[in-house]
Amino acid sequence: MCETAMMPQECMDNKATRMTIPNLRLNNGFDMPQIGLGTATLNDEAIVPVLVTAINAGYRHIDTAFRYGNQRGVGKGIRDSGVARERLFVTTKLDGEFQGNDRAIAGLDECLRQLGLGYVDLLLIHWPLPQRDQYVATWKTFEKLVDSGKVRSIGVSNFKPAHLERLRASARIHPVANQIQLSPRITREDHVAADRAHNIVTVAWSPLGAGKGMLDDATLKRIGAKYGKSPGQVVLRWNIELGLAAIPRSSNSERIKQNLDIFDFSLTPAEVAEISQLDTGAEPRVDADKSGH
Ligand SMILES: NC(=O)c1ccc[n+]([C@@H]2O[C@H](COP(=O)([O-])OP(=O)(O)OC[C@H]3O[C@@H](n4cnc5c(N)ncnc54)[C@H](OP(=O)(O)O)[C@@H]3O)[C@@H](O)[C@H]2O)c1
Repeated sequence: MCETAMMPQECMDNKATRMTIPNLRLNNGFDMPQIGLGTATLNDEAIVPVLVTAINAGYRHIDTAFRYGNQRGVGKGIRDSGVARERLFVTTKLDGEFQGNDRAIAGLDECLRQLGLGYVDLLLIHWPLPQRDQYVATWKTFEKLVDSGKVRSIGVSNFKPAHLERLRASARIHPVANQIQLSPRITREDHVAADRAHNIVTVAWSPLGAGKGMLDDATLKRIGAKYGKSPGQVVLRWNIELGLAAIPRSSNSERIKQNLDIFDFSLTPAEVAEISQLDTGAEPRVDADKSGH
């Protein structure tokens, strides 16, 4: 065994070499493993073997949400993996139905019931939904949830810099993370800079472009060939070089492992810049001011 609870030195039993998943230190002192496993679209049944494979491959950070409808499966996968819960960093998110009027209290209780856990490491407001104007009130409830011990850290998702400013203005506990759509095609440097200015970790969702062709890019292939890595690994390494966390999803056991096998090479600053220049200027899939759930 080479693990210590909640520490970064993780064994990769499937590899001849040992690799470490770095942690990002959150602004409240807890650590978040820089690569996590995304679980969207994988239902309660499908997620169980995926999670067992991933945890046994070395993943210690798992991203789910009430909306994904898979928290029971996530909980079962954690139990079936045989790895102690304290060694894992589990994130879940509450969407619109839990905003306002302390609804998040019941929301978190339901998440914990489904997951079969006593606490989550990170709870996120899934979308700001500014048209409802309840995210500041919801944050007050999130602060109470930290006090209750049922959640260690609280953060946001899909928040634009202006939403963050407004929330922070009256926050007693500051958000530790902002989970946003981010990839070489949509680099969102303004969001990353705003997060960084407030010591908030940016977590990239759809970091691999959600399987929509980004990984066919010639630049990513060329850089990957130089290091003997796939385009997906190059993209995840780019996240690491930028100091971001990323939560790639895969249900393929080889790619689950491949997506962690990114800690034995580095990109040069020129390569990081070249990948960042793949930004298309495209809008995110959902404009957080107009839509969401
Ligand atoms: N906060 C939010 O609002 C929000 C929104 C969307 C997503 N998320 C979170 O972010 C996670 C990741 O985003 P995502 O699921 O949209 O997409 P993603 O992780 O960018 O991409 C997943 C796709 O990439 C493929 N893939 C995985 N590894 C690969 C590799 N090394 N090479 C080539 N293809 C690879 C997967 O196929 P295989 O399974 O066949 O490998 C799958 O089709 C979600 O699962 C969810 O946890 C959060």
